[in-house]
Amino acid sequence: EQIEKGGYDHFMLKEIYEQPRAILDTFRGRMLSNEGIIRMAGVDDNIEKFLNANRILIVACGTSWHAGLVAEYVFENLTRIPVEVEYASEFRYRNPVITENDVVIAISQSGETADTLAAIKLAKSKGAFVFGVCNVVGSSISRETDAGAYTHAGPEIGVASTKAFTTQITVLTLIALKLAQKKGTVSTSEFHTYLSEMDAIPAKVEKTLKSDNHVKTISNIYKDATNFLYLGRGYNFPVALEGALKLKEISYIHAEGYPAAEMKHGPIALIDEQMPVVVIATRKGHYDKVVSNIQEIKSRKGKIIAVVMQGDKTIKKIADYVIEIPETLELLTPLLTTIPLQLLSYYIAVMRDCNVDQPRNLAKSVTVE
Ligand code: G6P
Repeated sequence: EQIEKGGYDHFMLKEIYEQPRAILDTFRGRMLSNEGIIRMAGVDDNIEKFLNANRILIVACGTSWHAGLVAEYVFENLTRIPVEVEYASEFRYRNPVITENDVVIAISQSGETADTLAAIKLAKSKGAFVFGVCNVVGSSISRETDAGAYTHAGPEIGVASTKAFTTQITVLTLIALKLAQKKGTVSTSEFHTYLSEMDAIPAKVEKTLKSDNHVKTISNIYKDATNFLYLGRGYNFPVALEGALKLKEISYIHAEGYPAAEMKHGPIALIDEQMPVVVIATRKGHYDKVVSNIQEIKSRKGKIIAVVMQGDKTIKKIADYVIEIPETLELLTPLLTTIPLQLLSYYIAVMRDCNVDQPRNLAKSVTVE
């Protein structure tokens, strides 16, 4: 096992560090940025289904559901196709409206999650076209779906999902870009910009990982907190949910993720000097509004850990700690902002002596209801 961990203390840390490579493996051969081409057999062979879709329904559980939420923002923005994201467990039992003109995308790292599998079977029985985004090759979901695209993340052993999440976002973004190109909902020059920025993401993830020691220091300061709040907006709202889930899963600290603007409708009541608040505040995503959220938290003595874009000066002045990510397009920021949140939960869990790779009560793949 020590050999399999490749010198890392835990699989989770190894998998966090594998992300530059995993993301590259996921788009390599599919995205030819110089030629302005995205080719994905499962999408290309069924392009009419996607282009004629009345809407896209995304079904998933856990971290994969969070990737689905990011995809909702990405798809609607790039393709103008309406998207709904559903917990597979709710979808399957609520007699949902599904038509033959719906495209259903099922996202699953393992490809074995019972609820997601049942949701797929239901959607198929109603005549929808079902597309799978799985990591495990040959898994039940990859076999049950009409077509699909694998995330080439490689085996993920740690129960808390890390590289599966960022590669799911990568695949889904490629699909959205391909459809946007076909539909003409992005201009040729925008399309090229997206592709060349995607090309730069593995190196930027690598750079983001350099915040490791800094995140470790922050982890040591807040490791004994009993509650955490995570806030983000737009593309980074699902990242806030995912950050909170990671912390809960492996450190057993209660954490909630919230859209930043919803803070005033509840969570603000919880803020006092004991409450660390992780705020994702990339310069392009409703920046001024997030800055004013940070001020509201400060005035209630909450502690701010902010994930910001390189060179940010405004937030540096008001936050207790800032973690920088390299500059990129707003739509691609989840691939970077996720990284320090993974490291934060990892180090806090290690410092609390938790079993990082096999947290209590959790399973890597939930094959029963
Ligand atoms: C379990 C795992 C999570 C995962 C979820 C969905 O709860 O512990 O990490 O996100 O199942 O799994 P899937 O394999 O369908 O992505």
